[in-house]
Amino acid sequence: MKRSIGAKTIVYPTPVFIVGTYDKAGKPDIMAAAWGGISCSNPPCVSISLQKHRYTYENILEREAFTVSIPSEEHVMEADYSGIVSGRNADKFEKAGLTPVKSELVDAPYVGEFPMVLECKLVHKADLGMHVQLNGEIIDVKVDESVLDPDGNPDIKKVKPFLYDPAGRAYYSIGKYLAKAFNVGKEIK
Ligand SMILES: Cc1cc2nc3c(=O)[nH]c(=O)nc-3n(C[C@H](O)[C@H](O)[C@H](O)COP(=O)(O)O)c2cc1C
Repeated sequence: MKRSIGAKTIVYPTPVFIVGTYDKAGKPDIMAAAWGGISCSNPPCVSISLQKHRYTYENILEREAFTVSIPSEEHVMEADYSGIVSGRNADKFEKAGLTPVKSELVDAPYVGEFPMVLECKLVHKADLGMHVQLNGEIIDVKVDESVLDPDGNPDIKKVKPFLYDPAGRAYYSIGKYLAKAFNVGKEIK
């Protein structure tokens, strides 16, 4: 028997994206965003939903660009910090001991220490209420060579991304391998 718990913003899994931007003066900023995901395959796009008063929101509208860095488990503290302090009042890169790397493709920085990054150009915006959904076209994905598999794709076991649990307001690492996608379902076809 299921119990109704009301209309809440809870889905699983929920990512931890670290959104990188430059402000008007050129200062790099990062913020944690859990409301987001891939939004189109072709052209490749990713969405993030931001409250309008976020410094990052202002920066993205100004520069029409952002990056999405994917942090590893070892950087959970820095990722969380980026989600509790505003770039209006702090240099979060410096305070967290992270390196801003200037994207050569879009007008935004990414986190040098995190194993992978999506470089995005703003292409679409939808005002949904408390949040505005921003869609960025993914111009390139850059991945540390040390976390690539033999086929040249990111190896999730090496990237070690972690998840946000919106119900418990906590971070979790990913679990174990289950089955091959677009494949295991064939058994009941
Ligand atoms: C785990 C986590 C997820 C978050 N997800 C979002 C989000 O999806 N959208 C949003 O507007 N704020 C989100 N926040 C809050 C912002 O990261 C936070 O307000 C941050 O300080 C904004 O930084 P800025 O002012 O430098 O842009 C999240 C915070 C945490 C800790």
